[in-house]
Amino acid sequence: MRQRIDVQLGERSYPIVIDHGWLETFDSVAKEYIPYDRVLVISDRQVGGLYGDVLVESLHRSGFLAELFVIADGESNKNLATMSTIYDFLIEYNYPRQTTVIALGGGVVGDVAGFAAATYMRGVPYIQVPTSLLAMVDSSVGGKVGVNHPLGKNLIGSFYQPKLVFIDLAVLQTLAPEEFRAGFAEVIKYGVIWDANFFSFLLNNVKKIFELDQLGLMRVVQTSCSIKAQVVEEDEKEAGLRAILNYGHTIGHALEALTNYNVYRHGEAISIGMLASAKIAEKMEILSDVDVSHLWQILTKAGLPCTMPKIDPIDIIERLRKDKKVRLDKVRFVLPERIGKVVIRDDVSNDIIREVIEKMREESDEKATSS
Ligand code: GLY
Repeated sequence: MRQRIDVQLGERSYPIVIDHGWLETFDSVAKEYIPYDRVLVISDRQVGGLYGDVLVESLHRSGFLAELFVIADGESNKNLATMSTIYDFLIEYNYPRQTTVIALGGGVVGDVAGFAAATYMRGVPYIQVPTSLLAMVDSSVGGKVGVNHPLGKNLIGSFYQPKLVFIDLAVLQTLAPEEFRAGFAEVIKYGVIWDANFFSFLLNNVKKIFELDQLGLMRVVQTSCSIKAQVVEEDEKEAGLRAILNYGHTIGHALEALTNYNVYRHGEAISIGMLASAKIAEKMEILSDVDVSHLWQILTKAGLPCTMPKIDPIDIIERLRKDKKVRLDKVRFVLPERIGKVVIRDDVSNDIIREVIEKMREESDEKATSS
């Protein structure tokens, strides 16, 4: 059942290896990618508490001097203060340039540990061991690492590819269902931007996937990683194609920011953003209403939000202009032309954005009164 996807980036190439229930044999695969005996496993309290020892013990069995460093959980700790605690530890305990960093956790741990690896002694190797669905299918692949600044998300960081992405699907059993659901929004995204067959598979198998069926999960993670790998291989530093991975993120990011990052999980905001972008595409007559309805169906089946919060559309439009994806003052939208194909457009008028948001808000109000 084991699957391997190679991310082909010349001398920065690396494999993504996926299996079920094999975390304790991590060392047998990883040792090939660890050049020296010092290893620092970085995790957070929750994941470190569940799986930190398993990973460290596996490394000890292969003779590595591995230690676990635990950071505080959550997006609010993805900042320079947390980075400092990691640097302090690495320096105080004389970790050399040949140290390997291992990121064991979700998106926050991956971004923070990856950025520590990118910057400590001008760069040391690192391995991603993602434990959330979101991290498995998105943030652990492609080398975007970094932290937030009080004035915006992910404003400090770099592109720094790991040496290996090691995925154990069995760890999803301890992931909170709401986190799984939020990660699933990014999975749906791959179907819309790249692969109509995959989208149909997801639409027909939501229940099985949410029951963590092993074969279903393997297809979900393997296909998502393979799509992400193809996009990153073509455009590692987001000069063009990679921007399609931001489908749903333009409005999604604005909603997250306007609700102070404490109302929606990232994937939930992306769910609303994907539906809004599809409706914008429908209004611009580039997407059919049938495709919009399929998208709505899958989001609803997955229990992801499809309604707009009570925020003034003008505030949302204002916020779009502050996004770091804005180029030459034009807001760029990734719009579906059909399920499986998207186009990047910077000519979406404020009127269309406003009309779609208002319509989605009216639908939310109707739902609220009828329920
Ligand atoms: N999460 C979007 C990207 O990696 O480009």
